[in-house]
Amino acid sequence: MSLHTAKHHYKINKTQRENLHGHKAYLLWFTGLSGSGKSTLANLVEMALHKKGLSTYILDGDNVRQGINKDLSFSPKDRSENIRRIAEICNLMLDAGVITLAAFVSPYSKERAKVKQIIGADNFIEIYVNTSLSECERRDVKGLYEKARAGEIKNMTGISKPYQVPLNPDLEVVTDGQPIEKSIKTILEYVHTKLK
Ligand code: ADX
Repeated sequence: MSLHTAKHHYKINKTQRENLHGHKAYLLWFTGLSGSGKSTLANLVEMALHKKGLSTYILDGDNVRQGINKDLSFSPKDRSENIRRIAEICNLMLDAGVITLAAFVSPYSKERAKVKQIIGADNFIEIYVNTSLSECERRDVKGLYEKARAGEIKNMTGISKPYQVPLNPDLEVVTDGQPIEKSIKTILEYVHTKLK
């Protein structure tokens, strides 16, 4: 599509914004099954970073899908568009110099690779929240798995649609039977080495 647009080059750049914030900007991308604990972890990690005086922002599937992406379903095509838009939003957040935490099921490796490409590999930290399907179903915080098993929800990741496990994530946290503090510590240690 020819859009007849030209890119403007602004006088203030990303590095200058990062300098103002006093740290570099990264995208922490949490991927995993629904109910795996992505948003909970992202929230707790954000709280810890915020407490240290770092500039942060958080995005997650349930919230974004009630706003900018409320026109999208859970079909593979719409999930792809969901992730594409989120990647572009994250890219803007990073350009603004803000550490961004994004918690999305993002079940397809191809889509996650696209996020990495849009953001740039150096700015992208992929965190695989590895919680087994049986544990997610046991928790079933939102009652979605029960509905999916009863055939009331189509396209449910882990039930009627696949989750493609990240093969080479930057971090993998296991939540089954492990205290959440351990996962938070692992993530914070990693992020702090990147921020130095
Ligand atoms: S993604 O696959 O497109 O990345 P996203 O993270 O935005 O998904 O949204 C997932 C959230 O939507 C889940 O945490 C859950 O609360 C809700 N949800 C509703 N229907 C489904 C479904 N069919 N599959 C997965 N999650 C669903």
